[in-house]
Amino acid sequence: MADETVSAVIILAAGFGTRMKSARPKVLHEVAGRSMIAHAINAANALAPQRLVVVLGHEREMVAQHLSDIAPHVQLAFQEQMLGTGDAVRVGQSVISEISGTIVVTSGDVPLLEGETLRELVRTHQLSDNAITVMTAVVPNPDGYGRIVREQDRVTAIVEQLDANADQKLINEINAGIYAFDAQVLREGLAQLAPINTQGELYLTDVIAFANANGHKVGAYQLLDYQQAEGVNDRIQLAARNAEMNSRILRRWMLAGVTIVDPATTWIGAEVDLAPDVTLKPGTSLEGATSVAAGAVVGPDTTLIDVEVGENAEVVRTHASLSVIDADAKVGPFSYLRPGTIVGEGAKIGAFVEAKNAQLGAGAKVPHLTYCGDAVVGAGANIGAGTIFANYDGTSKSVSHVGEGSFVGSNSVLVAPVTIAAGAYVGAGSVITRKVESGQLGVARSQQRNIAGWVDSHRAGTVTQEAAHKCGQSGDNSSRSDDETLITE
Ligand code: UD1
Ligand code: CA
Repeated sequence: MADETVSAVIILAAGFGTRMKSARPKVLHEVAGRSMIAHAINAANALAPQRLVVVLGHEREMVAQHLSDIAPHVQLAFQEQMLGTGDAVRVGQSVISEISGTIVVTSGDVPLLEGETLRELVRTHQLSDNAITVMTAVVPNPDGYGRIVREQDRVTAIVEQLDANADQKLINEINAGIYAFDAQVLREGLAQLAPINTQGELYLTDVIAFANANGHKVGAYQLLDYQQAEGVNDRIQLAARNAEMNSRILRRWMLAGVTIVDPATTWIGAEVDLAPDVTLKPGTSLEGATSVAAGAVVGPDTTLIDVEVGENAEVVRTHASLSVIDADAKVGPFSYLRPGTIVGEGAKIGAFVEAKNAQLGAGAKVPHLTYCGDAVVGAGANIGAGTIFANYDGTSKSVSHVGEGSFVGSNSVLVAPVTIAAGAYVGAGSVITRKVESGQLGVARSQQRNIAGWVDSHRAGTVTQEAAHKCGQSGDNSSRSDDETLITE
């Protein structure tokens, strides 16, 4: 009876995760930027189950909140006391009590497990007409796992490490903790569980021995890629799973046409999307919903979090979040793009520029040493070195506009809200508080005074005076120029 459908998936996630030494429940820790419980739900979704149940215990509120954000379709079941995996599945089954057909049980802390692997498990289960199919793996070090006791193709029992005899401890085929059950056989088996073992727990694994005793067929689906079944109990394993997940993600992108110059220092989150012919240079970290279009070059030493990078853009030594970098734009080195920054097509954000909620039109340039906060800069405009968009008056923030093709001289302050119309100039060093109209030059700074004879009268005996004298400046002020020379623009 291979009907290929799955009635329910029960994900066990009630464990304390004590060894994580964390205020956060274990399943909320992230692997490749996604919570472990989200990985488990993703894998389960590949089975398109009619019901998806997550069993929670410790810190249930935090996990429940997270699940209502990321997977509102899951049903929650609460295990009051950690009485063991058998009790946890009982709790999970209680919210879907009348269901028949295939029930898959998996765990919230095996982040590398793929949906396709669960599908293989279910296929094997249904094609073999098993009552129970246990996912197993042959591992280099079986310590701590339940051991698979077999008679040919049949699994006759699973013996926990602490209950195993010397011979059983030598078995290196382990229980991955992931199963397909016939719902009825599971229900009957759970009803018979008793805490008669070293840990005094209700073992889900005892259902296997019961099923055998009642003449049901129990088989195995042996997972060759055993790392998929590896769990997370402490921060060392969390780092190991992250490293493995990352290297799998990198391999997938390289096979899809992405050049990754240094895989050892490149991190790509699970939700990132890359086009062929993207180049990632060393020290690049792409996180969240970041996407990079064809031909773009990112790095070295760049972190992008929820950033969209357009075709052939270049992003060098940059930290950016919630921003858009359009095609052919150039960002960096040493640029900081905060949320709401949009760098238009072919535009440039250069060295030591911080931008926030700033829109740069196509071809606009902010090349050096600028704070560009709450700004709308038109196409082709040029913002001189050291310009500050003074967006905050101490109580509220306002937006400033620089029109298309305008030129803001170096070291200017644009006091928001203020507008530089299209086709206008701002003189260097200006503090602009009023609108500059098209065709005008706005200049706002004190006029320059040149005070003749000042070096002689105030800096006698210095190298400066000596140099002045060499240039023909005598001490008697006879060649003194106008006292206050008016510099006009
Ligand atoms: C379990 C299996 C073992 C298998 C191993 C794979 C049993 C008795 N043993 O061992 O054969 O090799 O998994 O990792 O099942 N959980 C609850 N409530 C509980 C206890 C556990 O929800 O009361 C959850 C945990 O959060 C975890 C999963 O069940 O997601 C497995 O629990 P864990 O304590 O890691 O099981 P092990 O004793 O390691
Ligand atoms: Ca355990």
